[in-house]
Amino acid sequence: MSQQQQDSTRDKPWGGRFSESTDAFVEEFTASINFDKRLYKHDIQGSRAHARMLGKAGILNASEVEQILSGLDAIEKMADNGELEWKVALEDVHMNVEARLTDRIGIAGKKLHTGRSRNDQVATDVRLWLREQVDGISHELRRLQHALVEVAEREADTILPGFTHLQVAQPITFGHHMLAWFEMLQRDFERLQDCRKRINIMPLGAAALAGTTYPIDRDYTAQLLGFERPARNSLDAVSDRDFAIEFTSVASLIMMHLSRFSEELVLWTSAQFDFIRLPDRFCTGSSIMPQKKNPDVPELVRGKSGRVFGHLFSLLTLMKGQPLAYNKDNQEDKEPLFDTVDTLLGSLRAFADMMPHVQPKPDKMRRAAMQGFSTATDLADYLVRKGLPFRDAHEVVGKAVALGVATGRDLSEMQLIELQAFSEAIGDDVFAVLTLEGSVAARNHLGGTAPDQVRKQAGVARTLLG
Ligand code: ARG
Repeated sequence: MSQQQQDSTRDKPWGGRFSESTDAFVEEFTASINFDKRLYKHDIQGSRAHARMLGKAGILNASEVEQILSGLDAIEKMADNGELEWKVALEDVHMNVEARLTDRIGIAGKKLHTGRSRNDQVATDVRLWLREQVDGISHELRRLQHALVEVAEREADTILPGFTHLQVAQPITFGHHMLAWFEMLQRDFERLQDCRKRINIMPLGAAALAGTTYPIDRDYTAQLLGFERPARNSLDAVSDRDFAIEFTSVASLIMMHLSRFSEELVLWTSAQFDFIRLPDRFCTGSSIMPQKKNPDVPELVRGKSGRVFGHLFSLLTLMKGQPLAYNKDNQEDKEPLFDTVDTLLGSLRAFADMMPHVQPKPDKMRRAAMQGFSTATDLADYLVRKGLPFRDAHEVVGKAVALGVATGRDLSEMQLIELQAFSEAIGDDVFAVLTLEGSVAARNHLGGTAPDQVRKQAGVARTLLG
């Protein structure tokens, strides 16, 4: 072995037992620094706590701890300013930070890794990072929920057709529709908070897999890092990434919801629906068709949902074949997780910024609601109140609708005498139930679409938002 090869192997923190340097391509292939440098702040945060614990336990002396802490501060500052050169030869963020520390402070730097392994270190870093991201995501989610409640209150009386099978079904209020989205996001928020509890468990102290021979104080480290508690089993702590999978599944559900909202916004802005206007700043034009204004933001969010679903499957597949404990496979958890967070944050942010500025077009929505016999059920319910069995009422209304189709009129546009030809039970009080306003106002119970209920539920939503 050449002298040069031996030197480059000696550079590696683990080079002691090696007699040959790493193949140049293998070095590139196995390195994670190009993406895991994103964890440097959390890596340093974990190291600070570990060093303080080693000091408290008497494993390092006070001066060593002091040198490590100030060295880490300096390294963080350099990294913040983009002055730290990340080296592929040092493989990952953990060894890059540690090598820099040792360059700066010497022997004390080499002692930082006492009672620790990169296996518990990386699991800790990812959990610290993800916990912070969950808080940022929760904030954006709340911002979007706020926007929806505001629109719901403003548009509590605005009527649009509700659909089943994408066919006009019954009139509903725009506010009610916004609060349906609010409810989905509320469950998403709760799921996020729940998964945060399982993220917030500390692997540190598990070391490589079996724990360490030093008298460490894991409760103290956990307390310093704001973890709920240390993980109870060292093998489990270094190996499982279920917390990341769980988060990505929560993220997938949120993206699925945003994708559904997107689909509706895309439909609603089309010339065929024309229910809403999206502000120009959330749209783009076409390079060839001058008349176009495209709803790019919702379209992109709808498209991006697929990436996140894909990441969920990557992570599940990554985990499923791994025997205990740590395996290098786990290095592959980061890119899917990072992209999930970026995609989700971006999508939520775009929606939270956009939703307060969506302008409904009440006239267009009214016209659409008038076209699909959306009050047919109201007429049937009216006949039931007059004593007809529901099935007979259904039959009567079906005939009235057929007349409407044949003559191009809504039920509310027919003469009383025409309607009475289908059933004698119909009186002139029928028109109150055939109007769109009458129809929505009548659904005045918990969960119904009546404007009064929308205002009530918006109040409940505000309480949930705190
Ligand atoms: N870069 C590694 C990862 O992301 C850190 C842990 C490596 N541990 C090891 N024994 N090679 O998982």
